[in-house]
Amino acid sequence: MPAEVLEHLAIRPDGIYLDATAGMGGHTALIAERLTTGLVIANDRDRESLELARRNLGADRPQFQDRVRFHHGRFGDLGEAVRQAGFAGVNGLLADLGVSRYQLTEPARGFSFLSDGPLDMRMDQSTGMTAADLVNHTAEKALADLIFQWGEERRARKVARAIVRARPIRSTLHLADVVERVVPRTGKLHPATRTFMALRMAVNEEPQELDRLLEIGPDLLLPEGRMVVISFMSIDDRKVKEQFRELGRSGRAVVLTRHPAKPSEAETRQNPASRSAKLRALERI
Ligand SMILES: C[S@@+](CC[C@H](N)C(=O)[O-])C[C@H]1O[C@@H](n2cnc3c(N)ncnc32)[C@H](O)[C@@H]1O
Repeated sequence: MPAEVLEHLAIRPDGIYLDATAGMGGHTALIAERLTTGLVIANDRDRESLELARRNLGADRPQFQDRVRFHHGRFGDLGEAVRQAGFAGVNGLLADLGVSRYQLTEPARGFSFLSDGPLDMRMDQSTGMTAADLVNHTAEKALADLIFQWGEERRARKVARAIVRARPIRSTLHLADVVERVVPRTGKLHPATRTFMALRMAVNEEPQELDRLLEIGPDLLLPEGRMVVISFMSIDDRKVKEQFRELGRSGRAVVLTRHPAKPSEAETRQNPASRSAKLRALERI
């Protein structure tokens, strides 16, 4: 949602910006293009994506060199990212939640049920438990609860039972096959979609990370600084909406989006994956 992001960030050419989820640097570049003496900190918990962003924003764009700094970390490290760059706060913070197209389509990252790869799913491959650890070592009941709660999979119990019987699960396609045997195909959704989503959320502690972002983010804003969050899941958008509303009520911020901004028809035609995106923004008082 490039136009909507720029509109709501209302970029000042001399401002300091924090792209909390730089991915391959698409939004970072949009921001950097509008800066003169300002700076954008490109943060991501995925080192591989940050390296790609560095390349995308590097060689053929020398004008970006003084305008972009990179930082590897998760949402809990955003304060450190800002301090390390030598600032007390930022004029704008952008968070484009979820996984990137790169992460989703690169088989070696293990997020996709469409191609075979190791069951990894970690956004930050340098630390933490993989999806393989989770499916092969979690008790059946806990696995069922997790798939039900975070994937909203009605057949979570059957899925968990099938997984436990098929252990050890060796790869993404192995897991997809196990799930497909107990979840019937309905509509356009692949039967393994919800299970993969739940595991991805658990492996990356996404709900806890969003809580951290909503707690830390507003405090990183300078007066009149703006925070823009794009969510793809209704469970995330609800959290953003509630926290923003609370900040508005307490007089700490003004909510700029009474209703979430959504991608244009042209954008959803070009990029169908964007159709569920919702953008919310606030301004710090
Ligand atoms: C939807 S993509 C962002 C795409 C990016 N806006 C672009 O234009 O290329 C989400 C990115 O956020 C990162 N991410 C997700 N959760 C994170 C967290 N808690 N801390 C830091 N980065 C996170 C992912 O690794 C991924 O690269």
